[in-house]
Amino acid sequence: MQKRELGGIRSELFDDIQGAEVRTHRSPKPQPKAEIPQTCAKYPHIFSPLKLTEKYTMKNRIMCAPMVFGSAVVGNEYGNAAYAPGKYSKLEMPAAGGTAMVSVGEIDINNLDAKRMPLPEVDFTVTEGEAFNAISEYAWRIKRHGAIALHELCHPGSVKPPIPGTEIWGPSAGTTPEGGTIIEIDESMMDSICNDFATAALYMKEAGFDGVCIHAGHGFLFTQFLSPNFNKRTDEYGGSIENRCKFPVRILREMREAVGPDFIIEIRVSGREGTEGGVEIEETTEFLKRCEGIINAVHISSGTYGGVTSESAVSHGIFGPKGYNIKMVEYVKQHTKGIKVGIIGHITSPEMA
Ligand SMILES: Cc1cc2nc3c(=O)[nH]c(=O)nc-3n(C[C@H](O)[C@H](O)[C@H](O)COP(=O)(O)O)c2cc1C
Repeated sequence: MQKRELGGIRSELFDDIQGAEVRTHRSPKPQPKAEIPQTCAKYPHIFSPLKLTEKYTMKNRIMCAPMVFGSAVVGNEYGNAAYAPGKYSKLEMPAAGGTAMVSVGEIDINNLDAKRMPLPEVDFTVTEGEAFNAISEYAWRIKRHGAIALHELCHPGSVKPPIPGTEIWGPSAGTTPEGGTIIEIDESMMDSICNDFATAALYMKEAGFDGVCIHAGHGFLFTQFLSPNFNKRTDEYGGSIENRCKFPVRILREMREAVGPDFIIEIRVSGREGTEGGVEIEETTEFLKRCEGIINAVHISSGTYGGVTSESAVSHGIFGPKGYNIKMVEYVKQHTKGIKVGIIGHITSPEMA
């Protein structure tokens, strides 16, 4: 069995990592389930199960929002593998603490139009080898504590810096703040994006994840199609909210067809962009209504990377407002059917949750 080089870094919590054999979901090692302390009996709703699909039920209603860029554990010339123990333990800790669903953070769905950051590249058509094992190990570590493991998938649309060898794609042509040229997405580009999302989702399924979390907020590709501030199209994908929803819904539908009914598709949306003329919760909800029967769950965030005010911030630090997405979650719950609705955004007490 292959040995992983971990660059001499030790994790205090998981000291079994150093020099450990590479483990994937294909070689599971049963672990005792985390016990829920008695005090949690005060909050029976939070600690009651929540069924997502026929196959998957969250053991409670606590989820860990996507963190840690997925490919950050893949070895490359910059030596990212040396940081792997810390990355794994950051996501294993919530699972070990009893969280029901943990999502690994962003990974670009391809290394061209979707490439946003200078991270190691992953070829989603190759479901074996070092990169695949490294990503698979997230799933193994999360699942061994009885938690559901998701991996976030992302296409940033035009919110990407000019990276040599890559193009910048968006719903409408234009120029990015850094001076990059945005190419308007045509039908063949849409086909390629749908195919890349489906391929990446299948890769995660093969790697042992229970589902994917699609980044459909914060000003990335999905928001750009939904938002009149980015989407100036005059064809069937622009104008009315119905038209602006078409391509985002098509991506999700084609992904669902690829992964089958039981694999979890969760999405993260910005309830509102918080920018003048940007999408508000009513339009986001119209989009979610069109996702009924395709996705299993959504969690509501807010803001956009294109915005510059505190209203459009994608997160507010620990001194920021608390529970700032709660009202939007209530609205979505009232107006949608069959989609489990979650929340992020400075939830600091069980009462607030
Ligand atoms: C260390 C760290 C890493 C994060 N990585 C991601 C990421 O990969 N993808 C993403 O969509 N959000 C990422 N986020 C944002 C969180 O998922 C979440 O939206 C943010 O922390 C605000 O929610 P909260 O106040 O409930 O923590 C990250 C946040 C932190 C603190």
